[in-house]
Amino acid sequence: MGTRQVNISSNSAESLKHIAAGPISIFGEDPTILSEIYKDNVNMSVWCRDLNHEILQAANHVIDKDPQLRTSIKVSPKNAIRLIEQKIDNAKITAPLVYDIFHLVKKFCELFKVNDTNLKLTVLHESMCPRFHVDMLPCRLITTYKGKATEWLQHDCIDRSKLGIGNQGKPDDESGLFKSVNDVKRLAKGDVAIMKGENWIDNEGRGLVHRSPYIDNENSRLLVSLDFASSKPEII
Ligand SMILES: [Fe+2]
Repeated sequence: MGTRQVNISSNSAESLKHIAAGPISIFGEDPTILSEIYKDNVNMSVWCRDLNHEILQAANHVIDKDPQLRTSIKVSPKNAIRLIEQKIDNAKITAPLVYDIFHLVKKFCELFKVNDTNLKLTVLHESMCPRFHVDMLPCRLITTYKGKATEWLQHDCIDRSKLGIGNQGKPDDESGLFKSVNDVKRLAKGDVAIMKGENWIDNEGRGLVHRSPYIDNENSRLLVSLDFASSKPEII
């Protein structure tokens, strides 16, 4: 597993070299970093953060109470708290998690100037999408509250002809999709990532390549994703 790669945009020659080579992923400790996803040369923006004890405790509680939780709901900043509370064990202990998700819904709607979003709240006991792939979406916000987080590959490390049927039935680490296992990066628990897919305007062949991490039954995950509720907003 490779170490985390942090590329902060700048006008340096190094930065311009990345632009010429292909889209980059960009990380920062302030939530405003997420808006960098609007840049043509960025295919993932990540707000790096540590989850506090109360949120971690709430995530454990939600998994313990409903190990099969898989919910998909259309929410707006106005109704998100109420609708999320209806889907999980609505105990005092879960409030920090509910409010954290509400803040993500609010940020997502503000960033893309939309009124609502499709929220998926999922407990996983096995890999959901174990093969590297790109999403056929404009973009998706994703965060992991418990367990290993999403794995991804830098654009410049990939032979995209090996995605999908191009792998000729071989596993990703044998297909030639990437050269070294050290090329495989993993987000951290708590990181909030917006990943560009292939359907973002003019992003064909540049969507972020990613996969679910390997997990076994003893290492469950709690995952939240946000997608556009209807067609993509006009601004992208
Ligand atoms: Fe995906």
